[in-house]
Amino acid sequence: MNLFETKLKFDTKLLEFLLQLEDQILKLPCSSKVITDNMLDRWPEYNIFMFPNNYLHNLFIQLVHTIYDYRSKINYSTEPLFLHAWLNIVYKNTKIPYHKHRENVISGYIYLSPEPTYTYFYEEDKKVTIENVQGKTVMFNVPCYHESSMWNFDTPRISLGFDVIPTNVFYDQEWPYKSTKGIPI
Ligand SMILES: [Fe+2]
Repeated sequence: MNLFETKLKFDTKLLEFLLQLEDQILKLPCSSKVITDNMLDRWPEYNIFMFPNNYLHNLFIQLVHTIYDYRSKINYSTEPLFLHAWLNIVYKNTKIPYHKHRENVISGYIYLSPEPTYTYFYEEDKKVTIENVQGKTVMFNVPCYHESSMWNFDTPRISLGFDVIPTNVFYDQEWPYKSTKGIPI
């Protein structure tokens, strides 16, 4: 499944900024196709990197460099790329549910909370466990199913999820995968 792992650095003040964005994100106008109040379901509706903040911008620049490193490592598409990223906040006794990302893209996440957690990837009969520490960034280019471990802490679990979409895919998907929120990188 070609999992790529690295670690990005960020100022922990970023966490305060992201937490106070949750309300704003829930108030954003969104497609009638989003029918829940769960912010995890709002991901097609915004790009987290469009919110102005120095710490977030710094993380964005590092992520773009990392994406380019991974792209050359796996000989991925030479088409212009668009990055769509969103915020995942999870509270005690919940988790990021079992899901997979779209085909033909590079997908991944940046884990931001100080507490440790796990992400489980499933491929046929194989289960791969990734231990997440603060700043851990994971990318993959095959749409394998994954989920987080149950979150047992009182503080919220914060991470960013993202897809890197080449031009030919960007214009050729159905909602929620037809992203209009990608930014060129
Ligand atoms: Fe995911």
